[in-house]
Amino acid sequence: MANVRVSCFLCLLLRNVVCVTGSNDPGFELFFKTNLEERQDVPIHFDNPLPSWLKGTLIRNGLGEFERGERKFLHAFDAFGKLSSWKFYGNGSASFSTKFLESDFYKASKSKNTIAPYLLFEGVTPGFNEVETLQALAQGIDNMNVNIYAFYNSNTTVREFVALNDFWKVYHIDKSSLATIESVTATVPKGGSGKGKFEFLNMLSSAHPLPEHGTEFHITFLSSVSLIPWVKSTISLIRMKDLRERELIASWEVGKVPYMHSFSVTKNYAVLFASPFYVNVLKMVESAKPFNSLDWNADEDTTVYVVHLQSGEVTVLKTENMFTMHHVNAYETGNNQLVVDVSSYKNPNFVSDLQIDVLMNKTKRNGFDAHAFLKRYLINLHKRTIAVYNFSSSTNAPFAAFLDMPVINEQFRHEKYCYIYGLVLKTDNISLSNIAIVKKNVCGDPSGDRYWSAPGHYPVEPSFVPTPGAAREDDGYLMFPVIDGPRRKSYLAVLDARTLQLINKSYLPTIVPYNLHGRFFGDNDLK
Ligand SMILES: *[C@@H]1O[C@H](CO)[C@@H](O)[C@H](O)[C@H]1NC(C)=O
Ligand SMILES: *[C@@H]1O[C@H](CO)[C@@H](O)[C@H](O)[C@H]1NC(C)=O
Ligand SMILES: *[C@@H]1O[C@H](CO)[C@@H](O)[C@H](O)[C@H]1NC(C)=O
Ligand SMILES: *[C@@H]1O[C@H](CO)[C@@H](O)[C@H](O)[C@H]1NC(C)=O
Ligand SMILES: *[C@@H]1O[C@H](CO)[C@@H](O)[C@H](O)[C@H]1NC(C)=O
Ligand SMILES: *[C@@H]1O[C@H](CO)[C@@H](O)[C@H](O)[C@H]1NC(C)=O
Ligand SMILES: [Fe+2]
Repeated sequence: MANVRVSCFLCLLLRNVVCVTGSNDPGFELFFKTNLEERQDVPIHFDNPLPSWLKGTLIRNGLGEFERGERKFLHAFDAFGKLSSWKFYGNGSASFSTKFLESDFYKASKSKNTIAPYLLFEGVTPGFNEVETLQALAQGIDNMNVNIYAFYNSNTTVREFVALNDFWKVYHIDKSSLATIESVTATVPKGGSGKGKFEFLNMLSSAHPLPEHGTEFHITFLSSVSLIPWVKSTISLIRMKDLRERELIASWEVGKVPYMHSFSVTKNYAVLFASPFYVNVLKMVESAKPFNSLDWNADEDTTVYVVHLQSGEVTVLKTENMFTMHHVNAYETGNNQLVVDVSSYKNPNFVSDLQIDVLMNKTKRNGFDAHAFLKRYLINLHKRTIAVYNFSSSTNAPFAAFLDMPVINEQFRHEKYCYIYGLVLKTDNISLSNIAIVKKNVCGDPSGDRYWSAPGHYPVEPSFVPTPGAAREDDGYLMFPVIDGPRRKSYLAVLDARTLQLINKSYLPTIVPYNLHGRFFGDNDLK
């Protein structure tokens, strides 16, 4: 009896050791497993009381359902969008909500119990037939599962919340209930192209608009792929004045349309990095799968467009061959110099590693070269040159410069700043599931770099919440949902942004699958 108990105890202990070292990645698959549960304002508890200044809502967008009926999605980018929110009432109480984005795509799929024919990054298995492929091309992208923004309408003083993808169309959502109100396809300003038979090809945009300095507006771009040989494709820079109103800043012709996910804005300029990762129109029309229709030219430089926000003047420069999903921040230093910080990659190969069958197979996912390189591009507009500077990691956080999903204190947007927070996968270079939240100092002494991780716990992109009236840039909290693998539960983690120490956590009533982007909207913020 005693022996059995001892060996059982031992085996439990061993199992724990295995769990704790993460060699089984317990629970990692929950990131990519359907969770149909929805919740509304369920009270959640932090053992450590929350400060009373914490008043607002953290809203995040991400993935919720990976199949419907007979059909499965192939790529993580395609899963049905699911929103999550955490309300902080300013009296120490908080609550959690989660709800599917009720897009036309989601509703059509639900009612027919299949994945309806809409444009997806990599399509479905079993695949769409020919008729459905044409329908998918005609419907375009409708699954706004990437990001959340608030657009302020200065005339009505109303802040309207939207869910976005890399597309012109957005979904207007209700901040409190997370209900989907309606889709909004703003009128494309004259000169900005858009519209046409395969409308979606004219409507490629960014899931990461940026606030325009000194205004309540946002800036985005619109890429229009021409299907007619003698008509050039265009890229336009657009001012988003509110949920519906758009203004053209500049529009210029391009030979090929690059895939761009984000860009930078300083006080006076927008900076777009057009990596040589081009939309192949013929493949696109034939397959209706962007995944199969993007050509990477490894020998070609990246074209950099610098657009003056007031005059619309476009300066075209070149820099090294590279690919980026996420720009971090940018600012001007005088002498016509711009500083642009980017999470860069040597190529876009990692995009194919985000297929669900790769992510769900430990052997395959551990072959994923998941590290970005944090780089600074110094643009000299006078000399028309771009110098590249690599950031390196320090011993305190040896992998910090590999971060992607970059986040800053938004009060330092367009300004000289010091701290980038982000996510690093595969911190041991072995297991993709070893994930850390990192803090990188880019204004000086990298000994201030920090990281947070816990074995068998899988965090996603953090959101920074500044302490009101703070003197320091890093005075605030980082908040993000984490999957606790061994317990198979999600919790919201709250870190002190100065130290990256866990202050407290609150387990959630249901699992939050992989989550992309979001932000904290203070009750008194405008954007
Ligand atoms: C949360 O706060 C309580 C009370 O201060 C503390 O006992 C607990 O250790 C904290 N939890 C974490 C994860 O820091
Ligand atoms: C805090 O405010 C919320 C919303 O008004 C309320 O539901 C909750 O009960 C309050 N909590 C406390 C501890 O007073
Ligand atoms: C506000 O109202 C003015 C005057 O009606 C109008 O020109 C402007 O476009 C409106 N701005 C927004 C952001 O709706
Ligand atoms: C996972 O991928 C490896 C390598 O491609 C393959 O040999 C193995 O059969 C896969 N496992 C499962 C369960 O599909
Ligand atoms: C900068 O990083 C790139 C990887 O993106 C590397 O190939 C290059 O050698 C680095 N340059 C310097 C000067 O360290
Ligand atoms: C992981 O690889 C990088 C080079 O890409 C190296 O600098 C780093 O030291 C390695 N980390 C570990 C934990 O082996
Ligand atoms: Fe993104």
